[in-house]
Amino acid sequence: MTDRTDRTRSSDVTWHDGQISRADRERLLGQHGAVVWFTGLSGSGKSTVAVAVETRLLGAGRLCYRVDGDNLRHGLNKNLGFSPDDRAENVRRTGEVCRILADTGVIVLASLVSPFRAERERVRAMHAEAKVPFMEVFVDVPLEVAESRDPKGLYRKARAGEIKDFTGVHQPYEAPTACELTLPASTQSVDACALQVVQMLRDRHIV
Ligand code: ADX
Repeated sequence: MTDRTDRTRSSDVTWHDGQISRADRERLLGQHGAVVWFTGLSGSGKSTVAVAVETRLLGAGRLCYRVDGDNLRHGLNKNLGFSPDDRAENVRRTGEVCRILADTGVIVLASLVSPFRAERERVRAMHAEAKVPFMEVFVDVPLEVAESRDPKGLYRKARAGEIKDFTGVHQPYEAPTACELTLPASTQSVDACALQVVQMLRDRHIV
């Protein structure tokens, strides 16, 4: 298999700095670029909470951009499936997109199942290296609850054997052990979850 993370292909490529820094762009926007990375089972409410956070922040004059796993799989990541290797590449690419967007000064709200701890840690390290604030938010909903919601009918299909590699059914979901915030999204409203995220951003002086 081709190693998609092979860096040697870039060894003759030079980084080209411009004259404008992230700090310049942040001053222009009057905010700080950052990444909030929502992880959790399919049907846990990651995207729903991200939408609510975006609405609240926009109302407070903050520019956000949502990076949704499902949406990116319509374009940039449309050649990727759900094998562990493809998920790793999906998370890596999406992490790079988030890092670039945050470098523009935007607050990025990423929602991806991103079931494997090691891949999430790689994305965290990528942001630490770029000195971009990165906050992992675990949208914590028990499998039974996500499965009973089944908003896209995918758990039903997975149980019926119509789709394979489904997280929680055929593949594990590795919950974060040390994330910035855990949202008990089966017992707390979407609005309450969104408020907690906004409060976290305030506490960290992002907004
Ligand atoms: S990730 O694991 O690579 O991070 P991502 O968040 O991009 O996953 O995509 C997950 C979404 O794809 C789910 O919300 C669901 O709508 C859809 N999906 C389709 N097949 C699967 C599958 N086998 N496992 C998980 N999600 C799937």
